[in-house]
Amino acid sequence: MSAPHSLVNSPADWWRHAVIYQVYPRSFADGNGDGIGDLPGIIHRLPDIADLGIDAIWLSPFYTSPQKDAGYDVANYCDVDPVFGTLADAEKLIDTAHDLGLRIIVDIVPNHSSDQHEWFQEALASEPGSPQRARYMFREGKGDSGELPPNNWESVFGGPAWTRVIESDGTPGQWYLHLFDSSQPDFNWENPEVWEMFRGVLRFWLDRGVDGFRVDVAHGLIKEQGLPDNDYAKEAPLGNRGPFWDQDGVHEVYRDWHKVLEGYGPDRMMCAEAWVLPLEKMAWYVRDDEMHQAFNFGYLATAWDATDLRNVINESLSAFGGVGGPSTWVLSNHDVVRHASRMGLDYQSEGQPTGIGPLSPNKPDAGLGLARARAASALMLALPGSAYLYQGEELGLPEVIDIPDEMRQDPTFFRTSGERYGRDGCRVPIPWESDTPAFGFNDTGKTWLPQPDTFSSLARSHQVGVATSTLELYRSVIELRSKHALGTGSLEWLPGYPDSVVAFVNNGVAIIANAGDGDVALPEGDILVSSGELSDNLLGPDTTAWVKLPS
Ligand code: NOJ
Ligand code: CA
Repeated sequence: MSAPHSLVNSPADWWRHAVIYQVYPRSFADGNGDGIGDLPGIIHRLPDIADLGIDAIWLSPFYTSPQKDAGYDVANYCDVDPVFGTLADAEKLIDTAHDLGLRIIVDIVPNHSSDQHEWFQEALASEPGSPQRARYMFREGKGDSGELPPNNWESVFGGPAWTRVIESDGTPGQWYLHLFDSSQPDFNWENPEVWEMFRGVLRFWLDRGVDGFRVDVAHGLIKEQGLPDNDYAKEAPLGNRGPFWDQDGVHEVYRDWHKVLEGYGPDRMMCAEAWVLPLEKMAWYVRDDEMHQAFNFGYLATAWDATDLRNVINESLSAFGGVGGPSTWVLSNHDVVRHASRMGLDYQSEGQPTGIGPLSPNKPDAGLGLARARAASALMLALPGSAYLYQGEELGLPEVIDIPDEMRQDPTFFRTSGERYGRDGCRVPIPWESDTPAFGFNDTGKTWLPQPDTFSSLARSHQVGVATSTLELYRSVIELRSKHALGTGSLEWLPGYPDSVVAFVNNGVAIIANAGDGDVALPEGDILVSSGELSDNLLGPDTTAWVKLPS
């Protein structure tokens, strides 16, 4: 298929510098009022998002799914779950996005399916050793009667990564692997049938005009031969290495997919969700004949600390530049504590907490978090490369902490018996209007997770046109980023600033981000934007400003 008409003038490598906005369908906008966001809701609200000046949207999964992991448990990759709408709605959404000049990226979940997928149901009904079982990771258990799991692997959501099945004769039998919930069995990527099936899924959505794919758990598909026990003591942070992460064989899959995408023209792209460090290793996923981008989780995990930020920026530009790719930048998504809260935690330098809830020992300082989040976003959007935004961050939404236990949905919460709160706090339906039911998410007031009262003053309607609002800050920096071509620019560090300040020049614009305690003098030039108030050309703590330098 050719590129959509309204996008023919956009270059084939649009993704190198794009600002991409993540839509989490369950929580974006609810068209039919049942409390869960849906595709008609997204279509209705899309112009508001286009208005931010973004280039593309990425949609988390909307496929047929029992929703045990909010849609990352897919039962049919080529259809839409009734909770989200119909295939016709998906086609309309793709066309509407294109008409608004937005590219559209959909999620693909190749590591595992739902246990309700036709293939897994067939596998359960078939004998051990059958071709149906060979599509997943079935193994005999250990112990005298196979009563122990095949190895010591743990699920990312907590608990064992293996579940034993009852065979057709009614006796306990083989075990299957699930790196995530027991309702998410891992595919066997040693099986050519699995390869063929996913080629078909890519083509299905490419035929419908999508511009790219976000690849879920891209580093997990291939497991080490023999499935040896994991030495958890040796596992590095961010999930790398261990016998199920980042095995060299995964790259063959993306080389194969690259060819499928190429068949649809030079402008289709893939972005890896690969929690792999060091970034140099992550960059392997974006080599010329593989994917195009990888989420820069090294950047996301960096605290609001100028030295750490300079280091990770240098490392990113060199790692991704080293393979000829752009770096991406990202601060929030549907799996992590929203950065407006994360940056207000006093232990924020200790890394990413797995959710925050009523009994968490550390609670964020909301004011500090928001100031830093605004500064951090203004810094991020000035960096060369592509930036990912997560719905609601443009409103400065915080993590929602006070979700009652009985309303929580994330399997992480249940699989750890509440020890880890999980990700519900960043997934609460977003507020559009201050004074309507569900803050304009729908018109019935129902929501699948409860919204806090504080959403009223954060609602989009409350921020539109208000110069000091977070929404207008995002709109300004995205517009200025485009005007000064910062996405395709380059970074030169600016000397003469204290260590606690990140200062650089990109295409004649100086970006000064003050992560220290004192005021900092801005350079001579035109102040284009600032994330907080300035007094006498002085930049206060936790503030970022952009200054056009005299030519
Ligand atoms: C990463 C997704 O972003 C997350 O939400 C999901 O739970 C896991 N992969 C499993 O698919
Ligand atoms: Ca709905």
